[in-house]
Amino acid sequence: MPFKGKLRFNETKTRMFDKEQISRFGAFATPFYYYDIKLLRETLTRLKAAVDKYGYCVHYAVKANANPRILQEISAFGFGADCVSGNEVLRAIECGFPADKVVFAGVGKSDEEITIGIRNNIFCFNVESLQELEVINKIAGNEGKIANVALRLNPGIDAHTNKCINTGLADSKFGIDFNKLEETAAFAQRLGHIKLIGLHFHIGSQILDKEPYRLLCQRSNEMQEKINYMGLELPEINLGGGLGVDYVNPDSQLIPDFESLMDTIHANLKVKDRQRVHFEFGRAIVAQCGTMVSKVLYIKPATQTNFAIVDAGFTDLIRPALYGAHHKIENLTSRYAQNEKYDIVGPICESTDVFDTGITLPKTVRGDLIAFRTAGAYGEIMASRYNLRNLPNVYYSDN
Ligand code: LLP
Repeated sequence: MPFKGKLRFNETKTRMFDKEQISRFGAFATPFYYYDIKLLRETLTRLKAAVDKYGYCVHYAVKANANPRILQEISAFGFGADCVSGNEVLRAIECGFPADKVVFAGVGKSDEEITIGIRNNIFCFNVESLQELEVINKIAGNEGKIANVALRLNPGIDAHTNKCINTGLADSKFGIDFNKLEETAAFAQRLGHIKLIGLHFHIGSQILDKEPYRLLCQRSNEMQEKINYMGLELPEINLGGGLGVDYVNPDSQLIPDFESLMDTIHANLKVKDRQRVHFEFGRAIVAQCGTMVSKVLYIKPATQTNFAIVDAGFTDLIRPALYGAHHKIENLTSRYAQNEKYDIVGPICESTDVFDTGITLPKTVRGDLIAFRTAGAYGEIMASRYNLRNLPNVYYSDN
């Protein structure tokens, strides 16, 4: 589906895992994450072609999924990494991302984390405040190094996404007010162990409309003019991540329309000869290749509905409980043609441990396997051990 205006979700036939796959699932310990490595590679191939067309660079947002196997697959395509903690920087390097393609963002980098970045000679710190500039300058000085930095500007753009993941508005904690660009850039220029190399933006996540990206390009063009007016030229423009995926009907678009977004950027962003454009996609790369699979423990009829109590809870996939997020739910093993209504709930002792309510599934019984689709991004990585539960298991399509 072309990435034109808003994406439309057409309910099409559900893609079920084939019989052979489902019988393999029967041998796995539930709940588990299952990653389709072939789909991940196809997604990476499409992304690479779309960005290579314009010479753009991608730094995969490790926060979406830091599973070493997934990171190795992504680094093998030559992409960089976008990290938000010292541990992510170390994990990315361990999993094959070259340090000179690692960017490090986050409003609250600790001194220890900054030191990790500097000692590993990462490509760039995306800096979010004047005070952070001073701290990086001091630590770089102590280490006898010069740190590359990009200023993360808050572009004041509404990405029209879930309010929990909308980051580009003026009152958000992220970035530096774009109206303060000149004074911040001038300040950075005066610091002896800082090299100002670029501007960084990120407007939010799960963005399904290209208009916020067009506005972002305009804001970036405006900021570049201001920088040039100061007599500076900054080689790097980083537009962040945020491209969304189809959670409602994943099979209608398993691979996001990277091409159309890149065309939009190319048509709207002013780029000088020696400048490079960077992106930090997370969700768009890994969401669709991951499925969480859980087993039905009990069916409990209630007045309005039937509760299907599964062995996964919000400790395994927290997005529905935390953001009211939707994941398509499928019964992989039902033998019945007849449909019934269910609330799909987990075992955790909290009433928010609900994956979805009032959904129609083929008649579901104890032991059935239930799939939660589009769980590859912000799924496994956000799992917790609340209630002292085990972390979910992980399996891959090719082993
Ligand atoms: N760059 C920066 C500076 C970010 O803050 C983020 C995400 C990304 C890149 C990657 O964004 P993506 O391409 O994945 O949309 N846990 C939430 C999403 C939080 C996103 C935080 N920042 C969820 O499950 O929806």
